Amino acid sequence: MRLWAAHGRGANGRQIMPRPLRVATIVGSLRRESFSRKTANALAALAPDHLALEIVEIGDLPLYNEDLDHGEPPAAWARFREEMRGQEAVLFVTPEYNRSVPGVLKNAIDVGSRPYGHSIWAKKPGAVVSVTPGALGAFGANHHLRQSAVFLDMPLMPQPEAYLAGVGTWFGEDGTLQNEKAQPFLETVITAFADWCDKLLKGPGELA
Ligand code: FNR
Repeated sequence: MRLWAAHGRGANGRQIMPRPLRVATIVGSLRRESFSRKTANALAALAPDHLALEIVEIGDLPLYNEDLDHGEPPAAWARFREEMRGQEAVLFVTPEYNRSVPGVLKNAIDVGSRPYGHSIWAKKPGAVVSVTPGALGAFGANHHLRQSAVFLDMPLMPQPEAYLAGVGTWFGEDGTLQNEKAQPFLETVITAFADWCDKLLKGPGELA
């Protein structure tokens, strides 16, 4: 496995030990046979070997209510925030619901953004892959997510844009990618994302 260390030293001058870059994958669907989840798995399989992609689950997060952040927060929020704190970059793979992001994904974004001043999103390089069995590539979800990312101070990869349309026929019975035409594009996307992270992070968790 190739190991990641864009530069040899962190801001404090300490030598950075080469290791894989930790990338959280957030899937915006809870459906068992989700095309988004299958796409996320396909991207992980095609990723350069210095990216360690891991799906961080969001389906158990109670709906965000600021009152609950004034005392001990719900255990699932604490688990999610803790898991995300250990991640250095974020790959969003999401369907579109009614021309926007599914509520479950927006809820995860909100939970991760609070308490105020403790957002787990800020400064993390990210990318958005939007997925639909329909024809329009889930553009609405992709760009609503980008709007939130601007406010969250998350630099999202501008190019290549990934609007995946017609994914309903892409996967086999075992959930793996069977579409030979789609594979090179997915590989281009995940390789560009690796380059985006390498460019933005000068050391683990630090922007260059
Ligand atoms: C959808 N779907 C959908 N598709 C789309 O391209 N644009 C849209 O705005 C919507 N809106 C929408 C709303 C709701 C409530 C549902 C349940 C579905 C269809 C959607 O793309 C399809 O169900 C996907 O299969 C969902 O993604 P997963 O679960 O396969 O990842």
